[in-house]
Amino acid sequence: MTTFKHLISAEDLSSEAIYQLIEQALKFKHQEVKLNLKQEVLVSNLFFENSTRTHRSFEVAETRLGLKVIQFEAATSSTQKGESLYDTVLTMDALGCEILVIRHPQEAFYQPLIQAETLNCSIINGGDGTGQHPTQTLLDVVTIFEEYQTFTGLKIAIAGDIKSSRVARSNAMLLKRMGAELIFCAPDVWYDPFYDAYGKQAKIDDILQDIDVLMLLRVQHERHEDASGFSTQNYHEHYGLTLDRYQKLKPSAIVMHPAPVNRDVEIASSCVEAPQSRIVAQMRNGVYMRMAILEVILKTRGALK
Ligand code: CP
Repeated sequence: MTTFKHLISAEDLSSEAIYQLIEQALKFKHQEVKLNLKQEVLVSNLFFENSTRTHRSFEVAETRLGLKVIQFEAATSSTQKGESLYDTVLTMDALGCEILVIRHPQEAFYQPLIQAETLNCSIINGGDGTGQHPTQTLLDVVTIFEEYQTFTGLKIAIAGDIKSSRVARSNAMLLKRMGAELIFCAPDVWYDPFYDAYGKQAKIDDILQDIDVLMLLRVQHERHEDASGFSTQNYHEHYGLTLDRYQKLKPSAIVMHPAPVNRDVEIASSCVEAPQSRIVAQMRNGVYMRMAILEVILKTRGALK
C-alpha cells in the first residue's frame, strides 16, 4: 500500500502509487467510503496565491472525510506583519494542525518545511510558483483514466502558456511516466526547453485530428514580465481552441483545462461545456482525488483505526 507523509511533486509518485490513488479516488466517487479516524484531525489550507478550485475542493474533500478545517486567510493573517512562511507553518503545527495544504508564489517553498526536524505536520503542495501542481495533475490523470482506462500510447497535447505553467510541468512528468505520448503546442516565446525531455513540439493545427486529449492552459499574464503586446484575438486565432478547431478533433477526443478559463482566449466560450469537454468533470474529480491523497497521508500518519 502506498504511503507518503508529504505530497510535493508529481515526480515523487511511482506508477503503482498513481494507480492506487486513481482507484481510491474512483471509489470515493462511486461508493460511500467512510474513514475511521482514531481522533479528531485538524487541517488547514494556507493559500498565499488566489485559488477557487484547489482551495475549495480541498475544503470539500477534508469536510467529507470528517476532518476539522481550521480557517486561514493570508490577507488577515500575521503574514501582513512580515511573518515568514516557516513561522506561519511552525504556528499552525504548534496549534495541532496535522496536514497543511499550501499554495505559495515561491518555487519549492516546501523544501525548508519538509526538512525541518521540529515540524510534525504533513505538507501538500497546492502549487508553488511555476514549479509544480501535483494535485492538479492527479485529478487530470483520473479524468483521463475514466475516459480511456489506460495511458499507454495515448496522444496528449498540452497547449498554451507552458512556460508559466506548473500544471504543464507536473503533467509532463507524470503522463510520460504513465506511457502517454506528449506533444507541446506553444508560441515560441512561451516554450521552455524543459519540455524537450518529455515530448515533441508541434503546431496545434497539425495535430488536432490525431490526438486523444487536448489539454489547454490558461494564459498567465500575472507571470509575464511584459504583457503589453498581447492580443487576445490574435492568440485565440493562432493558438486557441476555436469552434472550428474543436470540430476537427476526433469524436473520441476530450478537451481539458485546469481552469480558471479565459473564455475566447485559450478556448472558445461555446467549447467550455461542449460534449467533448471534460473541464467540469476535472473540477468534480478534484474533490475525489484530494480525498484519496488525504487518506494516504492520514494512513501514513497512523491517524486511521
Ligand atoms: N486549477 C487550479 O489550480 O485552479 P485554482 O487556481 O482556482 O485553484
